[in-house]
Amino acid sequence: MTSSYGLDGRAAIVTGATRGIGHAVARQLAAAGALVCVTARDPDEVRRTAAELGGVGVAGSVADPGHLRAVVDLALREFGRIDVLVNNAATNLPYGPLMDVDPCAWHEAFAVNVEAPLRLVQCAWRAWMGEHGGAVVNVCTEGAAHVGPDIGAYGTSKAALAHLTQQLAGELGPKVRVNSVSPGLVRTEMARFVWEPGEEAVAAGLPLGRIGEPEDVARAVVWLASDAAEWVTGADLLVDGGTRVRAADPGARGTARPAPYDPQPPTGVVTPPPYP
Ligand SMILES: NC(=O)c1ccc[n+]([C@@H]2O[C@H](COP(=O)([O-])OP(=O)(O)OC[C@H]3O[C@@H](n4cnc5c(N)ncnc54)[C@H](OP(=O)(O)O)[C@@H]3O)[C@@H](O)[C@H]2O)c1
Repeated sequence: MTSSYGLDGRAAIVTGATRGIGHAVARQLAAAGALVCVTARDPDEVRRTAAELGGVGVAGSVADPGHLRAVVDLALREFGRIDVLVNNAATNLPYGPLMDVDPCAWHEAFAVNVEAPLRLVQCAWRAWMGEHGGAVVNVCTEGAAHVGPDIGAYGTSKAALAHLTQQLAGELGPKVRVNSVSPGLVRTEMARFVWEPGEEAVAAGLPLGRIGEPEDVARAVVWLASDAAEWVTGADLLVDGGTRVRAADPGARGTARPAPYDPQPPTGVVTPPPYP
């Protein structure tokens, strides 16, 4: 990372930053010179991550509006500014056909995946960005462009987040840029049950020949958050190893096409993965 990214001394909030993609984003932002404020629900992990990155952190669920206000208050108190906001925390629950989904669980998915990003942008806008400017990056998913078995709540909420990204981009310019990244299958806990049983087959079916690493997505997030993307807003950057275009890969290295690349359990699986 070089100083051309313009992140030296800037302050960034990253939700869900104790592992996986959020952790890689926070690490790369810190390496680019940014001051980072991290969040997640597990307080020990938040403390550990904040210490590791020389930043600050606050534990809580993004579904709690009071937690989101506390995050913005902390960043402003410690850093005096909030230049970058990365809405990364998400849930892939509830699983199952939508006719069986408990509306309360559906509401929770939207509270975490859609409402929280909006609330956090509102807090950051009112506290700092509305006057001084900034950049927001929302983590969506390549899978939001498709339907699939048992992931109706996740897919619908992420599609809403993609729409929210564009709406906010139009409303908040020229002060604040709002973009999203849409990862394909990435080696994280959330998606372990997808990649662990058949990584080789999945990788062979991708034009770029491997599944994603958190750092692949983080580089895209950091670029969108940086001055290098100063004329980019309302964009969705696919970081998917060619998932979206794999139908045109003639041989797919001689293997069968893999299942859709998204954090979803195989059809019929009733026990959710470790991700709560
Ligand atoms: N991995 C993939 O293949 C993939 C593909 C497409 C999109 N994505 C998206 O990428 C983002 C990151 O996913 P990941 O795969 O990196 O997941 P992960 O490895 O499970 O990490 C999730 C992070 O978010 C935190 N978190 C979860 N729920 C939270 C909540 N309600 N409030 C605050 N923090 C919360 C977790 O810590 P705690 O558990 O302590 O809260 C953890 O730090 C998500 O938006 C996901 O939808 C992932």
